[in-house]
Amino acid sequence: MLANKNILLGVCGGIAAYKAVEIASRLRKLDANVDVIMTQAATKFITPLTFQEITGNPVSSDMWEKVHNWNVEHIALAKKADVVLLAPATADIIGKLASGIADDMLSTTIMATTAPVFIAPAMNSNMYINPILQRNLQTLQQLSGYHIITPATGHLACGTNGIGRLPDPAVLVEEITNYTAQVQELKGKRILITAGGTREAIDPVRYIGNRSSGKMGYALAEEAARRGASVTLVSGPTSLNVPAGIEFIKVETACQMQEYVDTIFAASDVVIMAAAVSDYRVRKIAGQKIKKTTEAFTLDLVKNPDILSALGKRKSTEQILVGFAAETQNLLTFAKEKLQRKNLDMIIANDVSQKNVGFNYDTNMVKIITRDAAVEDIPLMSKKALAAIIIDKIRNLKK
Ligand code: PMT
Repeated sequence: MLANKNILLGVCGGIAAYKAVEIASRLRKLDANVDVIMTQAATKFITPLTFQEITGNPVSSDMWEKVHNWNVEHIALAKKADVVLLAPATADIIGKLASGIADDMLSTTIMATTAPVFIAPAMNSNMYINPILQRNLQTLQQLSGYHIITPATGHLACGTNGIGRLPDPAVLVEEITNYTAQVQELKGKRILITAGGTREAIDPVRYIGNRSSGKMGYALAEEAARRGASVTLVSGPTSLNVPAGIEFIKVETACQMQEYVDTIFAASDVVIMAAAVSDYRVRKIAGQKIKKTTEAFTLDLVKNPDILSALGKRKSTEQILVGFAAETQNLLTFAKEKLQRKNLDMIIANDVSQKNVGFNYDTNMVKIITRDAAVEDIPLMSKKALAAIIIDKIRNLKK
């Protein structure tokens, strides 16, 4: 799985830096191409020459010293990397990354890469459990593309016993190998995902909308793309960045969303409707801003098409249709009813009356219900982590 992959190994200044030599060696044995960036502190523990000999590539440790034949070295290394592994990652680099500080070769390169970054913290137990470090790790964990590898527990170089050991090099290499294997698993699959809330105009300045931020749908799109699927994301207005490597279609209204979804549906293997689609629209949109001339005001609304229901009627036996259910009561009953009525293979039910669940939060807690009526409770977690679970479930659905 790692043959010809470009792995960028970032080595920081900690006693576990010596283990990075074995990591580089194991990666090379799997035919990966390994580039190493060392922090200045790391060079106090081990020399660049060691890595140079093992990887066959020049080693960068100084922003101002040119070791490759590239114009801008940190950008070239950032672009070249398929995966970045930081091992050992010190509190210093974790703090820098979490705060957006880029002041040396390693931090600037990571800032410039779009490759996934695996962070393997290794340090004294008290440093590891320090709330500042934990907060920084949490910040990174919630960002797309950053993966934290939990340190091992055992005897530490400082003489104590506890959490903070760099996991065995074989474990770290396996983590990268598994990740790369996952990347391939959806190759050739076409996945259509909707995200965000639709907006229905009332007049030129007002609309009917909802609190959907798009975070859930975008996390799903990123996860599916990361595993090699061809992803089309049809999104209502959001303030999120468009994920890299996907086809992106921006819409505003439910009817526009339906138009694009309907066109792309026939060529899709999987459709996931995470969007919060407005059930009603204004019958006649006012041409000019409505003036407040009356004490009461009534909007005349007409029903919007149910995009998902329509797909449920059209879907072939091979296609997988996944919906969401956002409820504030009777979560399971309402979600099961939607699964049946809309002819879905799976529905993800979130109780959006709860704190940290559903609209606009970075986290979610759901029940995943499949056609065979099996219900799986997924505890509160980041939408990114949940997206990985949902994609796993879809992959394992039997058609
Ligand atoms: O975007 P975030 O801030 O991250 O929030 C995530 C979320 C809460 C929006 C998401 O987790 C979620 O629950 N999305 C579905 C919201 C919703 O509209 O649910 P619903 O129960 O009203 O609709 C059921 C399903 O039918 C949904 O898959 C919906 O996309 C679809 N639908 C609904 C109405 C309609 N006219 N057409 C549809 O296709």
